Amino acid sequence: MNVLESFNLQTWTGPFDAAGRARAIAALESGHVLFFPALAFTVRPEERALLTPELSSGRAKNISLDPSGRLKHQSGGADQNALLQAMMQRFAGAAVALVSGLFPSYAAGLERARTSYRPAEIAGRSYSPVHDDTRLHVDAFPTRPMRGRRIMRLFSNIHPGDLPRVWNVGEPFADMAGTMLPKVRTPPAIQSWINFLTHPANGLRSPYDNLMLGLHDTAKLDTDYQRATTKTEIKFPPGSTWLCYTDQVMHAALSGQFVLEQTFHLGIEAMAEPQRAPIRVLEKMTGRTLA
Ligand SMILES: [Fe+2]
Repeated sequence: MNVLESFNLQTWTGPFDAAGRARAIAALESGHVLFFPALAFTVRPEERALLTPELSSGRAKNISLDPSGRLKHQSGGADQNALLQAMMQRFAGAAVALVSGLFPSYAAGLERARTSYRPAEIAGRSYSPVHDDTRLHVDAFPTRPMRGRRIMRLFSNIHPGDLPRVWNVGEPFADMAGTMLPKVRTPPAIQSWINFLTHPANGLRSPYDNLMLGLHDTAKLDTDYQRATTKTEIKFPPGSTWLCYTDQVMHAALSGQFVLEQTFHLGIEAMAEPQRAPIRVLEKMTGRTLA
């Protein structure tokens, strides 16, 4: 499978032509990575000081900005934090402009979620296997129930030198799920209620959330699968941008430093082809309603 679908855009704001938009939505929903080799997010001269791994607090690998404007896991002083917040807000605005311009039909279902800044080099860090994002996985989070909604992420490499962000992209979602589903052990339903009662703000986890987290964990922990499965290595150079459904594309971030990322959530009814959503694929495989 051709993993990347490339677009020769140089500006974040549309209007984008109809043929390009049609190609973009078809590629995105069928599990490709949309690649914009000439779409750079410009770091201003005064923001160069932010290109240091010292900025993150060490408790978390990424600095995040929630849509209300609150920074988390940063360790700079007040001036540095204001600069960082402004740069991340500007990136979020550019990401929203690009995604709304490319996918106008998503407008009703699209929600801007967190923005993140990833200033640490990936290679050489050590994590437990389930937290190790150098292993192929689909995104699924224990604290963020999606109940079938999609996770779309847009990334820009802002490295000041020539260091690419290196990813592996694995097999199509349905192929991975076909192999992994029989091995997934989901928690009993009562566990979702216990979690809900102890952390009501997160909402109730659905069977879909438990299956997706099961797929995430099972794939990462399966060393034989990680070694043997088909994968394509991709290098995203500085000055480039890429976008995909990270709940669908099997991906692993192998190395690189200084990336900005914007997360979007989308209700599947806004998709051009909702039957391509992981929840629909898994419902077909299991014969169950999952959310
Ligand atoms: Fe991921």
